[in-house]
Amino acid sequence: MGKIVDRVDKCCDYIKSKIDGFVPKVALILGSGLGDLAEQIEVVASVDYSDIQGFPQSTVAGHKGRFVFGHIGETPVVIMQGRVHYYEGYTMEDVVLPIRIMHSLGAGTLFLTNAAGGLGDGFKAGDLMVITDHISCFVPNPLLGPNEDALGVRFPDMSNVYDKDLQQLIFDTSAKLNIPVKQGVYLQLTGPSYETPAEVRMCKLLGASAVGMSTAVEAVVANHMKMKICGISFISNLASGISETPLSHEEVKAAGDAVAPKFQALVKEVIASM
Ligand code: HPA
Repeated sequence: MGKIVDRVDKCCDYIKSKIDGFVPKVALILGSGLGDLAEQIEVVASVDYSDIQGFPQSTVAGHKGRFVFGHIGETPVVIMQGRVHYYEGYTMEDVVLPIRIMHSLGAGTLFLTNAAGGLGDGFKAGDLMVITDHISCFVPNPLLGPNEDALGVRFPDMSNVYDKDLQQLIFDTSAKLNIPVKQGVYLQLTGPSYETPAEVRMCKLLGASAVGMSTAVEAVVANHMKMKICGISFISNLASGISETPLSHEEVKAAGDAVAPKFQALVKEVIASM
């Protein structure tokens, strides 16, 4: 058995011992400031990351670390309340381990959310952006190293990472709930420093609409395992040089709190229809 599969299996054995046969259909990752959603669902079980041997622990204030299992509507979900970021110093294998775990527990769909900096072009703080594609920039590819064929192929196609039908479902739901969404390309940098104005100009030149420190690498491994993927960025601020004021994590979190109700309503309704 491959090293990664072995690690995933060990984590899953522990988690399965705590969730009484629950099989999630959808895996949801909650970005900065959006973690409350896990408290609004019908919870069946939760498992703290710190109780899972071999699981990386988040070090960021405000990021809770646990898997929450439950139902949104009729849809069984596993929610990651707190993700693992590359800038915390983990290996890329650690960063994407939870995606592989949630897939192994049964989730065939991955719903990614994050807080991101808007790169202009009509985006403003508080906007929601459906992710249509991503650019992975200066972050190592999480599939580097020996390929484990049990997970996926050596050279995965990346032409349709963000599922078109799921994007349409988000657009339709947003119209139904009257919660406007925009769409665009998300660019992942390593962080943890925010960008310089020159780097922000680079991101724009590369064709991105939003910049952040997560998500693309998670989508790469989920796509490797042939999960269906969708994502929404919540624009917590305009990126530096576009914004008049210096950026702070507090600002990102406060903006998350402000937009949380409409964001959560949208995500819940979309997942209930999955
Ligand atoms: N840049 C990078 N990551 C972010 C930002 C930003 O402006 N806002 C929230 N996450």
